[in-house]
Amino acid sequence: MQGATVSLRANSEVGGEKPVKNIGDENSERPNPRGLDKIVADWTRISFVDGAKGSLTYRGINIAELAAESTFEECAYLLLSGRLPTTEQLQAFCWKLRHLSPPADKLLRIVKELPPMASPLSVLQVALASLSCMELGDRLSPEETLFENAMRIIAQTPAIIAAAHRHERRMPLISPLSTLNHAENFFYMLTGQIPSKKTSQFLEIALIAQMDHGFNPSTFAARTVASTLSDIFAATSAAVGSLAGPLHGGASSRVVEMVLACKEAGGKSAARDFVQDLLNRGQRVMGMGHRIYVKTDPRARILEDVVFRMSSREDVQADYELLKAIESAAHEAFKERGVQFCTNIDFWTGTLYRHLGLEKSLYPAIFAAARVVGWCAHILELRQANRLYRPQSEYRGLSNVAYVPIEERNGPEPK
Ligand code: CMC
Repeated sequence: MQGATVSLRANSEVGGEKPVKNIGDENSERPNPRGLDKIVADWTRISFVDGAKGSLTYRGINIAELAAESTFEECAYLLLSGRLPTTEQLQAFCWKLRHLSPPADKLLRIVKELPPMASPLSVLQVALASLSCMELGDRLSPEETLFENAMRIIAQTPAIIAAAHRHERRMPLISPLSTLNHAENFFYMLTGQIPSKKTSQFLEIALIAQMDHGFNPSTFAARTVASTLSDIFAATSAAVGSLAGPLHGGASSRVVEMVLACKEAGGKSAARDFVQDLLNRGQRVMGMGHRIYVKTDPRARILEDVVFRMSSREDVQADYELLKAIESAAHEAFKERGVQFCTNIDFWTGTLYRHLGLEKSLYPAIFAAARVVGWCAHILELRQANRLYRPQSEYRGLSNVAYVPIEERNGPEPK
């Protein structure tokens, strides 16, 4: 799916003989099995997405407070272990994360063997699956091994993304520095520059805000794979595949494309017509809408604030104002159509990354570098009280169909 927008009807026409109608009542507040809408599939103690209130907590702590006060390492410890660390615990955790962060040479050789045009997210998916062949899998192994492998995956994800990015540009790979923290090292390995305090702070806030989010599609994919007692590498690799789609982790780069297209169409004063035209053509406004949040995505407010804080720079200010114009045009257009979609986090992340000097192909991968903490926390949680994820389907196909020998078959091509 190319471009800034996605067809409104992208997946609605699937199925066979009978016209496909939705299971359940789409417009009701009741759960709808299609898309697992409002279905409670399992319990978790990791994060709580309160759609009605528009709030998000990690282990009970408000995300806004964590974004303002905490660090990547501290939040990762919180999500994985269930509580904030003491100074000693945090020091040991940071040491371990740093110690595990350089990927093995053979993993980097695999990355270099992949076609340079492969997206960093595709490379990450391959690399995580490859780790399963290199490390001791956690299957049948003690809890410590699973925790260590979770830390290895979190620690190495930025290095793998950076290696993929630099391989794509045929630039030499950069090893992490032991003097930098996780967010600083990520930026350094991507760009070769040690980030300023502000840059690493802004990147860190974005990473914290995207670390976990209830049973979002990629986390659910990770849990589904892990529920078969498959290893943590297979589960996180599957999660990366789920994140790649434009309705999940791929939205931020499309928002940037949308902003650039709106700029070309005339900028702020053209925003209203630009949005109306998108909707009239049956397209989605990227960075708008959420399955759980109705009025507010609290993460969007945090990221908007970061972009606003950057807007002392003239180029950022122009983009900030254009985004605000698109946002209000979209909300107005939705209202006219009798629907309501909130601004989601991806409306702001791409603009932040662009002004940090990071390229578009990296945006979904940066999301992965944050969400990998949540995936691992969920796999650890599930492993403590595992039950196989195995839902039922409603069968709508034919029945009692006789087998016809090949020489006797005719009729139209199957759809
Ligand atoms: N612009 C225009 N129409 C929309 C939008 C939008 N952004 N979002 C949903 N709709 C319409 C959709 O076309 C459909 O209309 P109709 O019934 O006429 O076909 C109706 O709303 C229901 O859509 P849905 O896809 O069944 O609803 P959902 O709850 O699955 O949607 C969503 C959630 C995030 C996939 C959707 O809002 C969307 O596609 N947004 C744009 C992509 C985006 O910004 N994704 C990032 C999500 S936040 C990051 C994350 O946590 O992953």
